[in-house]
Amino acid sequence: MTKKEKVIFVCQNCGAEFAKWLGQCPACSSWNTLVEELREKRNKIRKKQISSAIPLRLSEISLTDKLRLQTGIKELDLVLGGGIVAGSIILIGGEPGIGKSTLVLQIAEHIATSKQLASESMFNKVLYVSGEESIEQIKLRAERLKIKADNIYLLAENELENILEQIEQIKPVLIIIDSIQTIYSSNLTSSPGSVGQVRECTAQIMLAIKGNSKSDKSDFRPAVIIVGHITKFGAIAGPKTLEHIVDVVLYFEGDKFQQYRILRSTKNRFGSTQEIGIFEMSDCGLIGVETPSLLFLSQNRQTDISKTIGSVVIPTIEGSRPILLEVQALAARSYFSFPQRVTTGFDLRRLAMLLCILERHCNLDVGNYDIFVNTAGGIKISEPAADLGIVCAIASTFRSKAINTKSAIVGELALSGEVRPVSQIRNRINECVKMGFTEIIGPAYNLNNISIKNIKTIGITNVSEALEVLGII
Ligand code: TYD
Ligand code: MG
Repeated sequence: MTKKEKVIFVCQNCGAEFAKWLGQCPACSSWNTLVEELREKRNKIRKKQISSAIPLRLSEISLTDKLRLQTGIKELDLVLGGGIVAGSIILIGGEPGIGKSTLVLQIAEHIATSKQLASESMFNKVLYVSGEESIEQIKLRAERLKIKADNIYLLAENELENILEQIEQIKPVLIIIDSIQTIYSSNLTSSPGSVGQVRECTAQIMLAIKGNSKSDKSDFRPAVIIVGHITKFGAIAGPKTLEHIVDVVLYFEGDKFQQYRILRSTKNRFGSTQEIGIFEMSDCGLIGVETPSLLFLSQNRQTDISKTIGSVVIPTIEGSRPILLEVQALAARSYFSFPQRVTTGFDLRRLAMLLCILERHCNLDVGNYDIFVNTAGGIKISEPAADLGIVCAIASTFRSKAINTKSAIVGELALSGEVRPVSQIRNRINECVKMGFTEIIGPAYNLNNISIKNIKTIGITNVSEALEVLGII
């Protein structure tokens, strides 16, 4: 901290400033909102330098300096929209143990051995800063992942000032900070991982790469990947407060006990946030999954059973990719005065709506039944296009009527019980054909005028018609 700076505490709710930390903000009475910040002393603020930036016409701006570093990991490039943009800051959030360190180490290897950079006559140096693990631990992981790249520099350090110094010295093309919650600036008194520290450290790193620390090529700026932990209940403190500063926010999801991991982008200044990346955690690191549908269909479907009760396959769309998901439902008479409704991977309130539709439009008296709905593999379904499939799965278990395992069901439901059209129907049908399904039941609007080889299309207009076609009512 220079003499011109001082530490203040700012309320995140109302912006009031205080010299000391307080549990409750005296100005707006909110609790735990004061965050430590560095501020230049008011009476010594330097006269503003006149900035040299001038407005340019849209047509005058060239995009050539926006170099994208392809990571060589197909799923990741898809989510990033084509690769890491030079000079950008990427935040990768996820629960502890989900595989963030594994992913960033694999990215480091690909960048360090990238031929793309060599052809631009730039050095492939990657600086991996770890505040959590010793360099020996990272080396062990690298051995496990069979990574031998010579251009990866490992640094076990927690103090920001030294990290900035090393960035200046090494001039890497990619900097990895694992994780931001373990880094601290000695200018602030709060402990590592506090909102003030996390924000200050990120801001300093940003200044460093956007300021003078340029790599060999004069207009090239290094990219930064910041790893941040989030907790199971509410993605609070660290990463959330950084979302507006960084260029790209990726979340790494999945169940620690399952093999697959999903990389989802919630913000991307250089591409779409629709795409997801699907990985499998194997003995030798994360591997991109080529046919995600295989991963989310239960083993039963891959054998020869022709009919199952309470289980439906839904062709969903994630970004530009169709994925077949299996939904399983179970209904049993309830022994409680409030029957239970439990879901994994599906919104509970949406389920309440669907149950109401079943009761009113199909005369199924599900009110006294406990209802459980699971998606195979626990993957989240957010598309309304899954409505019809879920309703059919519940009706099937309720009536104990089996559904053909080679049928896929898709359609959004209106409160009136009407089946609404869905987007990208051809994409969905093609995936069903690819995975060996012989029948698709869906909105009449989408399916009535369509004929595709090897699959029978059945268009329906409302939910009870669908249950009749399936022989449930
Ligand atoms: P890690 O990347 O350390 O998670 P994070 O940085 O998000 O906390 O890895 C988490 C888990 O992945 C760990 O429990 C071991 C497992 N793993 C594998 O199954 N295969 C591998 O090749 C590696 C490196 C890790
Ligand atoms: Mg880690």
